[in-house]
Amino acid sequence: MITAGRDLYDDPRFFEGYRRLRNAESGINDAIEIPAMNRMLPRVAGTAVVDLGCGAGGLARRLADAGAAHVVAVDSARRMPALAIPHPRVRYLRADLDELTLPARSADLVVSSLALHYVADYAGLVRRVAHWLRPGGRFVFSVEHPICTAADPMTGWRATDDGALWPVDDYATEGPRTQNWIIEGVEKHHRQVATLIGVLLAAGLELTGIDEPVPGPATLQSHPHLAEHLRRPPLLVLAARRRPVDPAKGVS
Ligand SMILES: C[S@@+](CC[C@H](N)C(=O)[O-])C[C@H]1O[C@@H](n2cnc3c(N)ncnc32)[C@H](O)[C@@H]1O
Repeated sequence: MITAGRDLYDDPRFFEGYRRLRNAESGINDAIEIPAMNRMLPRVAGTAVVDLGCGAGGLARRLADAGAAHVVAVDSARRMPALAIPHPRVRYLRADLDELTLPARSADLVVSSLALHYVADYAGLVRRVAHWLRPGGRFVFSVEHPICTAADPMTGWRATDDGALWPVDDYATEGPRTQNWIIEGVEKHHRQVATLIGVLLAAGLELTGIDEPVPGPATLQSHPHLAEHLRRPPLLVLAARRRPVDPAKGVS
């Protein structure tokens, strides 16, 4: 059985496994992804923020604590509110990102942490994000690195006579991939790096940042098992901006 991202976190076996994993924190979120997102995020004081695929709302609450005026935190999973801690400036909204609509020019910042590789129609979502952003507004997100999502099925490290190797195959064939992660048949979507960026540009956004974060020396001392991520990048972080108002032409 294949379980699509929008339904995955409501599967009781997956949800329990994911909750245990996040509670036990293997390090990739706390030691690699969150610091990389923090480096890429703009100042948020007074801004209107949308968090796509918010999960338990950790990023949404961090941004609210950092001064965001309000955060709309969106997730399709019915079970996520059980994990989400309330915050006076975070509104949790249950919706599928493939169908989400928000008012035009209502957001200064749209963020997403490790959720967009579950979304089937990335180009459609990015076009909507561009529509939601105010001129000068930012879009910052992380996804599993396309080097990690390329092979189908996503087997992870493979034992060979030369030691463990990470298979990269079918890189240019974009589309759904299956992975046994906590449960069998988890569905993710593979896209080339060029597509992830090209779709932003086609939607009229400017690329303002790119990162392939890996653990630094201090992280490796506290989390030596993360050294495998030096061999292939686990994550890709992208930042884009809707053009600010062009005084000659008005709002672009
Ligand atoms: C790996 S979790 C990340 C959660 C959170 N951003 C974090 O970093 O802790 C991915 C989240 O994306 C959500 N998700 C996946 N597909 C979705 C979709 N089509 N619409 C809305 N949410 C989706 C899942 O329910 C899950 O909460």
